[in-house]
Amino acid sequence: MSKSSVISGFYKLSPKERLAIVKNFANLTVEEANLLQESCSLPMYVTDHMIENVIGVFPEPMGIGVNFLINGKDYLIPMATEEPSVIAAASYAAKMVRDGGGFYTSSTTPVMTGQIQVVKLKEANRAKEQVLAAKAEILKNANDQDPVLNSFGGGAKDLDARVIETSMGQMLIVHLYVDCRDAMGANAVNTMTEAVAPVIEQLTGGHVYLRIISNLATKRLVKAWCRVPKEGLGGEAVVDGIAYASAFAAADPYRAATHNKGVMNGIIAVVLATGNDHRAIEAGAHAYAALNGQYTSISKWTKNDNGDLEGSIEMPMAVGLIGGAVKTHPIARIALKILNVKSSNEFGEVLAAVGLAQNLGALRALASEGIQRGHMALHARNIAVIAGAKDGQIDVVAELLVKERRVRVDRAKEILENLNKK
Ligand code: MEV
Repeated sequence: MSKSSVISGFYKLSPKERLAIVKNFANLTVEEANLLQESCSLPMYVTDHMIENVIGVFPEPMGIGVNFLINGKDYLIPMATEEPSVIAAASYAAKMVRDGGGFYTSSTTPVMTGQIQVVKLKEANRAKEQVLAAKAEILKNANDQDPVLNSFGGGAKDLDARVIETSMGQMLIVHLYVDCRDAMGANAVNTMTEAVAPVIEQLTGGHVYLRIISNLATKRLVKAWCRVPKEGLGGEAVVDGIAYASAFAAADPYRAATHNKGVMNGIIAVVLATGNDHRAIEAGAHAYAALNGQYTSISKWTKNDNGDLEGSIEMPMAVGLIGGAVKTHPIARIALKILNVKSSNEFGEVLAAVGLAQNLGALRALASEGIQRGHMALHARNIAVIAGAKDGQIDVVAELLVKERRVRVDRAKEILENLNKK
């Protein structure tokens, strides 16, 4: 029987109780569950091989987004973030979307773009024709670099060339399109671009400098969409508020930056938890948002004829299930097991749904009571800890701070002093 991601009162349970539920949902082994609980640290022999000059680890809390129904499948979403209210908002939004049938998603084949920059050309347009005429030879050369990727049906599939005008004259930019299957693909693509560079130099008589993947992955796009019944949002006025917020973000780059930041709050938390390259995803998202010349929002919300809310998102999503920290980081491996995605496409589509949920959570609050009420309720717990509250004191102090609407460290210290006197 399939398991549901709706876990009533999940937030009220202790971390141990939550972990027991996730262990059962994701069929984690006892060792994996223990590792999650004790994961304040990673073994030095692991970290020392991941990056350079290692001196320790930087732990970040990892929580679970619940209620996600995507293409009829239930998901528990591992999210690593330092920001309170992100996971609560995503879970709350996923519940509202669930009541409208859940998220639906799609994606392109996982094709990344590699760039080869050719300069010092006598005739850039002629060089372009020479490169295009030698397409088969260049692609073969690229594919010779990665027989494993080829054996999985991936590899360099196509190429293109453009002449661009720059402050240092004309350049020929060759784009190599590589199907990366379940890898993020940076290594495969960079190896291929470096390998074909001498062939391109020979063909064109130019000089190649840069040979590198582009993070504007316009050939590796994911989409998600959903319908949210107006009742769950608190009525048609909130639906209108969200539609107005969407129109605002579409028209104004100052708002679009914050709107997209809200989307990325969710996406990056999952990307981090799974050991993927979050800078690549962030760069791709914002570049895509500016592709038509003006920076705009990557998601849209409108009211349908029934008065319900409809939302959609489209963005590049270069994530992988193999390679890099995804395989070496023990917690990332467990996070991926919890997520239970079978391909990089499914993974990317889940991320699009999480981004849309996160965006909805923020916009619903912004279009109604504002974000500070919910945010402060969660932030108050942080303030209580900063003031020195321990265990049972944390909730007592936090509740009083919120009640008094004075979520400040000085007030938390006063409350603690009073408590300690008793
Ligand atoms: C805060 O981390 C994110 C929001 O600012 C997003 C938004 O304004 O849409 C609440």
